[in-house]
Amino acid sequence: MKLSSTLSVTVALLATFVILVLSSIVWLPSRQKQLNLPPGPWGWPVFGSLGFLAGALLPHCALAALAARHGPLMHLRLGSFHAVVVSSAEAARLVLKTHDLTFADRPLTSFGKIIVYGYKGILETPNGPYWRMAWKLCATELLSVRRVESFEHVRTEEMRALVHGLSECAGAIMPLRERLLSHRMRNTLRMYEAFAVTGTVSNLGEWVPWLGWLDVQGFVRRMKRVHELFKQFFKQILNEHEKDYRKSHDARASAEFVARDLVDVLLRLVEEGDDMLEEQEARLTRDGVKAFIHDIMIGGMKNTAVTIERWVTERDLPDLPYSDALVKETIRLHPASPIMFPHRAREDTVVGGYDIPAGMRVLVNAWAMARNPASWPDALDAFRPERFLAGGSAEGVDVRGAHFQLLPFGSGHRMCPAYNLALKEVAAPLANLVHGFTWRLPDGVPLVTVPKCRLPAYLYATVD
Ligand code: HEM
Repeated sequence: MKLSSTLSVTVALLATFVILVLSSIVWLPSRQKQLNLPPGPWGWPVFGSLGFLAGALLPHCALAALAARHGPLMHLRLGSFHAVVVSSAEAARLVLKTHDLTFADRPLTSFGKIIVYGYKGILETPNGPYWRMAWKLCATELLSVRRVESFEHVRTEEMRALVHGLSECAGAIMPLRERLLSHRMRNTLRMYEAFAVTGTVSNLGEWVPWLGWLDVQGFVRRMKRVHELFKQFFKQILNEHEKDYRKSHDARASAEFVARDLVDVLLRLVEEGDDMLEEQEARLTRDGVKAFIHDIMIGGMKNTAVTIERWVTERDLPDLPYSDALVKETIRLHPASPIMFPHRAREDTVVGGYDIPAGMRVLVNAWAMARNPASWPDALDAFRPERFLAGGSAEGVDVRGAHFQLLPFGSGHRMCPAYNLALKEVAAPLANLVHGFTWRLPDGVPLVTVPKCRLPAYLYATVD
């Protein structure tokens, strides 16, 4: 009896496997023939071109190498999904500007489902009422110019702590990147890097969902572990804030609550939520708050890590073109997300003469775009900030989504809503690292630096 049931399960599994293999061999190509898809490499049954992403090259480099052969708008079958890879400024303009609304969707991912409370954040949330509510919240509350300015003192404190910490290591060899992240953030980020960065394109279960239950690479297992850690962390943050909120509310019965940080702002919005409701499913809940904190924290963390003797402040930045050029050149050569978080076509469309059917995933390869000789004619692999200065080959090229050869924050509907904050967070500390220290790379030791203070000692204290 036991043997026969085991046999029937095995037969059922085998049958499913054969059907799926046959469907990928027979059905897909015949459907493809009717469509004029962008050019791309031939794909294996079941796995398509996933093999290209599993080699020694990093996924963005492997895709860039393929695009050099097949073109800047390239079609791939990755497991059970069709994807189009964008690798040039012109192709990015078509996708993110001309057809912006069509591609303003996100595919469902296990990352969004497991880590971000069932798509309750912003980044991984599909287009719809909830995403619109989230976006509105970002624009009007969380990341508005007024709000970003109101937290300038927090960023200044962090910057002071950073230069103070660096001054204590002056003369010693140290890995700068580690120093740029606080201790707790460093640990969290390390856990993340294990899967989140490459997980977008390298997770087999993401591309071949019917094999997802096998979790061959252990992505889902690790995501669940990370989610558990985050749950504890968020619970603590929310409890602390709610306690303070209740205390201040009781003390000043009708007085207006003054938000100290973004968590306060979000918790107040959960309370007031019903008033701003247009659609029920767009309601901000406690889980939503946790998902927002997650996206904001990871967005900020993953991506940002004289003669008058004082530190550079955010207000000085418009007068520092070289510092601005340094940020642009660093972001160009080392984009925080070499392949942007995937977009998804909401409807059938034609892009550059090619058919893009609804549901197709879109991978924008920012790394390849930054190395496209058509956009960067002048020593494209060299670190040359001067290209962005007056008279340089990239004079006037900006990072705010209007110049498609340089899209560190994306462009269009799904563009990073925090670019204003992110630029402040990167530019002022970077200017101060250059202004306050002389940097040396110890011979033969990669990825570490030796800082030497170059301003009066009192300036390196954490407070005046
Ligand atoms: C240097 C720092 C940063 C870089 C380079 C960066 C880059 C990006 C990119 C490339 C996207 C995707 C764009 C697209 O899909 O077309 C994005 C989306 C997003 N970023 Fe950032 N980001 C940075 C900092 C931040 C910070 C500090 C936050 C939060 C405070 C943040 C929050 C978000 C959110 C919520 C989205 C999702 C938008 C959506 O899908 O609707 N980012 N970012």
